[in-house]
Amino acid sequence: MHKDKLSVRLFGKPVGILERNQKEKLHFHYLENAEEALSLSLPLKEKSFDHAHTLPFFAGLLPENTQTLNTIGKVLGTDPYNAFDLLSMMGFDCQGAVSFHVLTEEIQTYEHTPLKANVISESELENHLHQLRLDPFFIRKEGFRAILSGVHEKVPVCLIDNQIAIPEKGHFTTHILKPGYASLENKIINEYFCLRIAKRLGLHVVDVELRHANKTCYLLIPRYDREVQDKTIKHYHQEDFCQALGYESPEKFQKNGGPGYKSCFVLLQKTNIPAVDRNHFIKMIIFNYLIGNMNAHAKNISLRYLTPKHFQLAPMYDIYCSLIDNNCFDMAMKLAGVYDRNQISSLHWKFLCDKRGYSFSAFKNIFQELSESIVYAAKAERLLMKEQNINIEVVDKIMKILQKKRGDCR
Ligand SMILES: Nc1ncnc2c1ncn2[C@@H]1O[C@H](COP(=O)(O)OP(=O)(O)OP(=O)(O)O)[C@@H](O)[C@H]1O
Ligand SMILES: [Mg+2]
Repeated sequence: MHKDKLSVRLFGKPVGILERNQKEKLHFHYLENAEEALSLSLPLKEKSFDHAHTLPFFAGLLPENTQTLNTIGKVLGTDPYNAFDLLSMMGFDCQGAVSFHVLTEEIQTYEHTPLKANVISESELENHLHQLRLDPFFIRKEGFRAILSGVHEKVPVCLIDNQIAIPEKGHFTTHILKPGYASLENKIINEYFCLRIAKRLGLHVVDVELRHANKTCYLLIPRYDREVQDKTIKHYHQEDFCQALGYESPEKFQKNGGPGYKSCFVLLQKTNIPAVDRNHFIKMIIFNYLIGNMNAHAKNISLRYLTPKHFQLAPMYDIYCSLIDNNCFDMAMKLAGVYDRNQISSLHWKFLCDKRGYSFSAFKNIFQELSESIVYAAKAERLLMKEQNINIEVVDKIMKILQKKRGDCR
């Protein structure tokens, strides 16, 4: 077994080798016969990539929360800040269709895989939800090698007969679960409310369910990189905008050196149907502004691959009203040179449209429609949540933000 080389596979097919040297620097190269690129930031024609170019895509698959990483490090007895070690230990079921293997591991290519998972009881699930901080990504479970990026607690799971299930060794997950115990309850109710409003407005957004395991609530979100049909999972590759544009996770906010709208729009020119994705993206920008989501950074926007060369904007995910948690009014990306949401006027929107070649009159129509209907959608969702006995304390705080007079876009 080679300790410093990993076989990198896409849909199970070897495409390259990830290596680390004695100074812990990474290097990636494609195999001669590789036909499919892993990322727009790792084009096939360049063949080989140094540490700086390798890190954004590969380390971008890993969680970012230091507490989670430290726990993983303790349980696995490894340095949790060493991307190579984490990918070798946990990188089987990752975002998209990439996986990491010892060089000699048997090759099993796939487009579809069987859905094979064991249902867990409600009390077992509740227990797990409370233990996720101590057992992130179920790392104590033999054979479970799954990982997701991001700061917040979450774990990928399966759904069998509408019950949460944990995949058998060598099998994949289909859903993402975010726990809502203790102080996390308001955070996930917030996310649920915002995603449901987006759905009501007809936006391109993930589905979401708010469920309970006994008394503990959790969010359940189907993975857009997996599609379940008759106990079979169809896999799609995906990458977030940081990975696609070659930025490391700590740079995800533009303020920290990350990409802004200009790079995002350039990327969207390369999608399967750019006009469709630009429209989705414009609606995403407006929705995030209206709902008060200051965390719409480049790891919260992704591309989903339909074929190796054809991709589209993935549905919206990870949307919540951050304004109720803190007084940070700075948006994740600058709008006409301005971060502060409170300073945004129609002039800033016009500047964005002019710079990105988007019709300002079309923009104004979308803005007008969304800003009018968002309050109705929110009221309807609030009512439904109340009827379902969901704690709507946080919802009422968001309602106040939505009802506050903002600058129009005329
Ligand atoms: N429904 C989904 N299907 C497939 N992949 C998803 C889905 N939702 C999220 N992801 C992937 O998982 C990553 C982490 O999820 P998410 O953004 O919800 O977590 P987070 O920890 O709240 O993130 P952040 O660090 O931005 O707060 C996303 O960046 C995206 O790549
Ligand atoms: Mg996120």
